[in-house]
Formats: sequence, C-alpha cells, structure tokens
Amino acid sequence: MAAGPAGAAGAAPVDLAHYMRPGTLQLGALPPLSLYVHLPWCLKKCPYCDFNSHEPSGELPEQAYLDALLADLEQALPLVWGRGVHSIFIGGGTPSLFSPAGIDRLIGDVRARLRLEADCEITLEANPGTFEKDRFRAFRAAGVTRLSVGVQSFNDAHLKALGRVHDRAQALAACEEAAAAFDTFNLDLMYALPGQTLAQLEADARQALAMAPPHLSIYHLTIEPNTLFAKHPPALPEDDEAYEMMDRITEMTQAAGMQRYEVSAYARPGHRCWHNLNYWQFGDYLGIGAGAHGKLSFAHRVVRQVRYRDPKLYMDHALSGNAVAQEVEVARADLPFEFMLNALRLREGFSLRDFTERTGLPVSAIGKALDEAQAKGLVTRDFDKVQPTERGFDFLSDLQSLFLPG
Ligand SMILES: C[S@@+](CC[C@H](N)C(=O)[O-])C[C@H]1O[C@@H](n2cnc3c(N)ncnc32)[C@H](O)[C@@H]1O
Ligand code: SF4
Repeated sequence: MAAGPAGAAGAAPVDLAHYMRPGTLQLGALPPLSLYVHLPWCLKKCPYCDFNSHEPSGELPEQAYLDALLADLEQALPLVWGRGVHSIFIGGGTPSLFSPAGIDRLIGDVRARLRLEADCEITLEANPGTFEKDRFRAFRAAGVTRLSVGVQSFNDAHLKALGRVHDRAQALAACEEAAAAFDTFNLDLMYALPGQTLAQLEADARQALAMAPPHLSIYHLTIEPNTLFAKHPPALPEDDEAYEMMDRITEMTQAAGMQRYEVSAYARPGHRCWHNLNYWQFGDYLGIGAGAHGKLSFAHRVVRQVRYRDPKLYMDHALSGNAVAQEVEVARADLPFEFMLNALRLREGFSLRDFTERTGLPVSAIGKALDEAQAKGLVTRDFDKVQPTERGFDFLSDLQSLFLPG
C-alpha cells in the first residue's frame, strides 16, 4: 500500500500534483462520477451481515457525523474538481435511521459543493424496521429520488431466522409507502434462507412482484467470515435447490416484465440503477463516510481509497483533516481483472471502447484471454461488444479468472 498525501498525519492539503504526475497509463477521458455516502449504524446487527454497520451505544451522533461527512467531502473536492456527479447512493448500515432533516442537510451540503447533473439519481437505503408513516415522503422532499428497501423476505419465520428487526406486516407497509412516495424504488430480497423450500421462495417472489417494484435486487444468502452465522452456521438449502430457486426467480421476474440485467439485479425498462451500473461499467465513485471505498481516475492512474472504518475513529480523522486510511494505485497488470470483475456481471457485457477508455490499456492487453473465453463458449464478441453467454453467466468466476494477471 502506498499512502497518498491525504493519508499522511495531520490536515495536509491534498497535493494534486501527486495524482497528476506522469505514469504508465494514458486514459483518453475520465469516466462518469458517482458519490457514495456511508451511514454506519443499524438498530441491531443482523447475524449474516459483514457490512460496516454498528449498533449505536447511545443516541445516534447525527449532527457530529454530518459535520464529519462535510469535512471529508471538502478534503476530497480537489480530486474531482469540475466533474459533474450523475448519482448519489446513501447506503449503510441503515440510512433511514437518520432523520429526514439530517438527510436534507446532507444532500444540501453535497449540492453546495458538487455539480449534480440535472437528472442525478439519489438513492437512500431503508429498513422496514425504521418505517413510520410519512417518513419516506419526507426523504423524498429532502431530495431523495429512489428508495431501496431491505425487505429480505415476507415470511415471518425466515425474517426471525435472519435476525431482522421487522416482520412481514412492516415489510408490506414499507413497500406500499415506498410505492406511494417514489416514482422508482428497489426491494432487496435474499434467497436460499435457513430452512427455505422452493415453494416458500416462490411465495416470497410472488409477494415481491405483487408490489410492482420497478427494481429488484435478489441475493443468494452467503455465510460471510466474522459473522454470527459463520460461528453458528444455520442449515441452508443444498446448492442444487439454490440453483433451482435462482431459475424460478429469473422465470417469475421475466414473466412480470422485468429484465435480469446484472447477476443480482432485475428492472423494468427505464428503471435500472444508474449508480450500480456505473460501478459495473468501471466508472468512478468518490466514497465518503466510515469505511467507504472509492475509485478515482486521473490522466495517468486509477486510485482506490478506503476511509477509516470505525465510526468514532472516522469522525475524529475526518474532522482533523484526513479521513483516508488507505490509498493504493491500481497496478497496470491488475486493471484487466478489476474491469472484468465488474463488467462481466452485466447481461449486456461491455464495449471494448469503454475498456480502453477506462483502463488506459490497449485491447491487446486482453486479446489472449478474450480468445480463450470465446473458444470456451463463455463470451460472444464483435468488433466492439463483448457479452457473456448463458454459460459464461453460469460460470462467471471461471470466466473472470481468465483475466487474472499472468
Ligand atoms: C446494506 S444492506 C441494505 C439496507 C439495510 N441495511 C437492510 O438490511 O435493510 C444491503 C443488502 O445486502 C444484502 N445482504 C447483506 N448481507 C448479505 C449476505 N450475507 N448474503 C447475501 N446478501 C446480503 C441484503 O439484501 C441487504 O438488504
Ligand atoms: S440492517 Fe442491513 S446493514 Fe444493518 S446489520 Fe442488517 S443487513 Fe447489515
């Protein structure tokens, strides 16, 4: 790891020359820019979750955290000078724990410092357990354009097994309110839950589709290291059953007019998530907040940043002028794999023009791997587009690993 100027002790101003100095890459243009804002608290830690989320020890330090975010943003501004922002994602944790007035302040602080594109998408993650009447409308009035509701399941027994703070009735009420308050919204569901049968998964998917969500994110429950589930693993459906569940989800969403445009994402026409698409298309994102990750491009390099993870530590560092805990320049040899980890998740694949523009590398850098992927029936391609086949999508990690540095 190379510590960047912002990672140095004290409130050192960002030394732009450090980012602009010559390097081995030549980026033709800078990609679109998004902003990610992490709010790291939850009512209760879920036993499967390895996100940077914490139960607050007392009252939420909302104003102090918003002060820290503002300081963090101001320190980062020189790195994105003059660039427009196409999307903002306020994620967590549970951002809906913050008051609508707090979210209003956050969006106002951002607007005053960054140029937001006219159609800038602003997503906020919400947990049905933090739902109360009119709260979602107040988020909308604060400038949020898209709500993402963490439903996970509509089955009370499964919600209990997942340690969720909400029940089916709250999930339904939250979905109804999201639909009433927002033109576009997302529901998060998980499948292959402890003890879940195919019939129960179908009931969850049917219920989700009955709410007519413009967007669905459906994740296979994974047991992450350092979680309660890793220590005390629940009995989960076998792999074969999980594949069957995935197939049913794809059939049911398709029949309801939704398209699976990414491994876990389904949308009606016109409702794809701009913010996540930008990640998958290897766009840039500034990440502010505790533990937030960022990826920023410059004329001759691509840089990744991580903020301090612990909320208290983050606030202290941000307020004293250096929120960045780690900064690394992505090695030239790692760029093809990093690009493919994202771009091959998309059903429609990517254009070779975007590859060269966003990595600064010639197409010849991936020529051999592309030939091999094509010979194995994992991608199709023409002079511009590369698209994973059905088989490539099913064996995605095998396909991606062809692009690992040799
Ligand atoms: C940061 S959370 C979203 C909002 C909010 N914290 C909540 O849980 O309601 C993002 C989503 O990731 C998914 N997720 C979290 N941990 C997961 C795991 N171990 N396996 C699969 N999906 C997971 C859940 O669907 C969750 O809604
Ligand atoms: S509410 Fe969401 S972020 Fe919080 S612990 Fe549960 S899954 Fe993780």
